[in-house]
Amino acid sequence: MSARSRIYRALGLAVPVLLLWTLGCAVAWADEPGDEVREGDDADEGLALYISQQCWQCHGYEGQGGVAGVRIARTVLPYEAFARLVRFTNLMPAYSPKVLSDDQLRQIYNYVRSIPEPPPLEEIPELDFD
Ligand code: HEC
Repeated sequence: MSARSRIYRALGLAVPVLLLWTLGCAVAWADEPGDEVREGDDADEGLALYISQQCWQCHGYEGQGGVAGVRIARTVLPYEAFARLVRFTNLMPAYSPKVLSDDQLRQIYNYVRSIPEPPPLEEIPELDFD
């Protein structure tokens, strides 16, 4: 394969990935978190890590999901299953203990668990069309 066609092939992969990332950012930025007090141990540290580790870019600030990542709040998974999905993943970049320690991952888990359940659809006045 010539050098030029290798560059074209690399670009063919890079451009869609970048586009998807940009789209994910736009969706996530539209949903900045409020200042509400959160319950749960370590939830504030977890939120800080959730932001610094870029989880929000794909899963949204409230874990609501977006273009690039699935909904993860409020997770029903036990910690062990949640951690396994973060450490060994398919479509998501895996986070090894070198970049995210077990303690830090536990704090993120506590943050995700602390996100309140959304109200039932019937209780959202904007969705009542009768
Ligand atoms: C680049 C985008 C991206 C980033 C950044 C990212 N994720 Fe994900 N995440 C995904 C995608 C895509 C999936 C679906 C993976 C699959 O099905 O193989 C996923 C799946 C998950 C799941 C499994 C959800 C389920 O119920 O199946 C968890 C938990 C999760 N991510 C947590 C996190 C946490 C915590 C962080 C930050 C430390 C993070 N993710 C960062 C894209 C991302």
